[in-house]
Amino acid sequence: KELTFKDAFKDQFVVGVALNTNQVAGHDPKAIELTKKHFNSIVAENCMKMANIHPREDHFFWEEADAFVEFGEANNMHIVGHTLVWHSQAGDWIFVDEEGQDVSRDVLIERMRHHIQTVVSRYKGRVKGWDVVNETILDDGSWRQSKWVEIIGPEFVQMAFEFAREADPEAELYYNDYSVSTPAKRDGIYYMVKDLIDKGVKIDAVGLQGHLTLPSPTVDEMEQAILKLASLGVKTMITELDITVLPWPSEQVTAEISLNYELEEKYNPYPNGISEEANAALMDKYRDFFEMFLRNSEHITRVTFWGVNDSQSWRNNWPIRGRMDYPLLFDRDYHAKPAVADILQMTQNK
Ligand code: G3I
Repeated sequence: KELTFKDAFKDQFVVGVALNTNQVAGHDPKAIELTKKHFNSIVAENCMKMANIHPREDHFFWEEADAFVEFGEANNMHIVGHTLVWHSQAGDWIFVDEEGQDVSRDVLIERMRHHIQTVVSRYKGRVKGWDVVNETILDDGSWRQSKWVEIIGPEFVQMAFEFAREADPEAELYYNDYSVSTPAKRDGIYYMVKDLIDKGVKIDAVGLQGHLTLPSPTVDEMEQAILKLASLGVKTMITELDITVLPWPSEQVTAEISLNYELEEKYNPYPNGISEEANAALMDKYRDFFEMFLRNSEHITRVTFWGVNDSQSWRNNWPIRGRMDYPLLFDRDYHAKPAVADILQMTQNK
């Protein structure tokens, strides 16, 4: 029988993938085939974000999120909700009154409560866990000065977790962030989570997004972050795994492109496919990280890829729109890259 991700890691952690609404709607059948074959967990790439699911104060848009949850249930998957409170992709309306002025602290707390509890109760008992708060600590460990912090204060995090717990006491509740292996950020998150635990707030896991680049972070840096957070007694998860093979554009390039988008193509280093060297480096990095996940599997409950295959990855559009990136383990033709067999084989030798 052909080895698959979900079977290879079944004794360690669930293996997931982010799906977009196009895929859930059935317009990308090959991606769905790979999803069913390899993964036992799914997360919504966009359709559960506040701006999508709650675009106006008096209106929730359930269609896409309902379809996503139904797909997960029909396929016996561990369903992850992403994300209840984020500074980005929040509805335009949420922070302001009719005159466009910031709402009061009490009003924003009530709007946040209503949002969280309406969404979480709709999927009570069906969504296994929620990214309750996303990306509120900056790389230097300080609080992001988002409208949530500005209007409510850092306590919005505790409130958000408590509102979610009230709505579905059984659901797992997560904090999720990127660049968690940056030491200052890792420590900022550590102290925020410690404070929640000290106050008796239910938090089950910290998600390390895992949007990696070839040079960084190193396996060791990410391992240190996992161990440090796990020392608090919470689980960790790798929630948005992908590895860009493209160089970070210089400020000059970014500036040039902002003036003329047609220049984007010129800065696409691999228009006809990834170079052998870059592909080999990508494969090595994936295998080394999965080895590390295996050796720390007592602390890791889930590893989720941020997309099924290269053609659908957000990386193609960031930080430069329209570049071709090759960050995932399945290519544009839905073929498994060599790392898939490598990683799966490794699990058999352990
Ligand atoms: O669906 C609209 C389409 O109707 C419209 O014509 C088009 C024009 O820009 O935009 C489309 O929406 C885009 C959406 O992705 C769906 O493709 C948004 O502009 C775009 O901003 C959005 O990007 C998403 C991004 O989060 C911002 O929400 C990416 O797909 C998604 O992969 C990315 O995921 C985030 C995680 O949620 C949190 N961690 C970082 C990660 C990567 O940025």
